[in-house]
Amino acid sequence: MFASQTYEERRQLLRARLKDTNGLLLFLGNEESPMNYADNGYTFRQDSTFLYFLGVDHPDFAGVMDLDDGTTTLFADDLSIDAIVWMGPQPTVAEQAARAGITQTAPAGRLAEVLQKAQSQGRPIHFLPPYRAEARLHLLALLGIPPAEQAAKASLAFIQAVVALRVTKSAEEIVEIEKAVTTTLQMHLAGMRMARPGMKESDIAARVAEIALAAGGQLSFPIIATVHGETLHNHFHGNTLERGQIFLLDAGAESPSRYAGDLTSTFPVDPTFTPRQREVYDIVLSAHLAAVKALKPGVRFRDVHLLACRTLAEGLKGLGLMKGDLDEAVAMGAHAMFFQCGLGHMMGMDVHDMENLGEVWVGYEGQPKSTQFGLKSLRLARELQPGFVMTVEPGIYFIPELMDRWKAEGKFTDFINYDKLQEYRGFGGIRIEEDFLITPSGARMLGPCKPRTADEVEALRG
Ligand code: GLY
Ligand code: MN
Repeated sequence: MFASQTYEERRQLLRARLKDTNGLLLFLGNEESPMNYADNGYTFRQDSTFLYFLGVDHPDFAGVMDLDDGTTTLFADDLSIDAIVWMGPQPTVAEQAARAGITQTAPAGRLAEVLQKAQSQGRPIHFLPPYRAEARLHLLALLGIPPAEQAAKASLAFIQAVVALRVTKSAEEIVEIEKAVTTTLQMHLAGMRMARPGMKESDIAARVAEIALAAGGQLSFPIIATVHGETLHNHFHGNTLERGQIFLLDAGAESPSRYAGDLTSTFPVDPTFTPRQREVYDIVLSAHLAAVKALKPGVRFRDVHLLACRTLAEGLKGLGLMKGDLDEAVAMGAHAMFFQCGLGHMMGMDVHDMENLGEVWVGYEGQPKSTQFGLKSLRLARELQPGFVMTVEPGIYFIPELMDRWKAEGKFTDFINYDKLQEYRGFGGIRIEEDFLITPSGARMLGPCKPRTADEVEALRG
């Protein structure tokens, strides 16, 4: 947690952004979420916007900022003696509020009364789109809005103001993100050093998770540790590593104060890459380096994405997998046979920062997203500004089902050499991911350097 002034300043800035808006801002903190029965919950994770403005990292809190009288009230109940017996002593609600510079608190049950009174006076109640079932039910109970209507009735002014503030990271946030990335790098180095033929993917996932937990935080997203890296979000850890395979590790730690790291490493199960693996790895690396070099304020991330796509396509043409006019191929989306997703995403308190508020507001400034396969999965397109933090994560993925589908459809036969492509069936996938801060003059990689080149990766695999 930061000093109380940080939270006070954030709320002042939020109020300033909403100076032409009246009514109440409703912040719902997260509740415990049961896994299989009420007292056996998933690890608690506070809502990031709640944490950002109100600072409390405990379940069952709500907050209201009154835009008209300038007050902020935190709603929660102090723990009963029964709860203290099971969970130990906790700071009081007033103490937790004070740490975030909030002086006004009220019992949880008062929230409904405050909101009902505001509704009866015709005052607007602004809320953010809920992403958990518990929050949807809470909003239904508090405001009478059915869950199916809540996303559409969420406050656009509130969403835009939150995005505008959270999107630029302060110096103290960067320190936290770098802590997370530093732990994340340790996770990757451990995974890269230990992997051997005969191990299970779960052996590596377990060691990687251990490092995140030992650093005092959690994982920032479920670990991807797989010999089937062609499945973009592969969370299965049941395969045994075999010689000749390539292993993709995409994992990140969350710092104790809830900032994310997100790196991807790809390495051979053997001590060295096969010539074919090295060729593909080098193409991904050249796309990565081209993208990183292009990062600077004023550049649109969509253009950086397209530069990476073009670089991948050139390399794939060199291997005989693509052909024809590459500008045309990339414009039409033919390269998405190999790179089906976006180049990167904002990162902060959430690994995909603020994705719950809508990619179109976070990554597109309200402009519509493309519907083209591949480009539609680009989460960030907007012009970069100093203080933005994002990942760069190009990849090449050989997805057998996609190869078969497009071939059967006769899709992009001017640009894809389907005969050659068959030779890569079973290859897997390669992704190289690092995290960057946009600076006034360019970009800086966050955290210590990660092994990047094929030689550097092999040096760890000895
Ligand atoms: N590292 C997981 C993701 O970016 O989606
Ligand atoms: Mn990522």
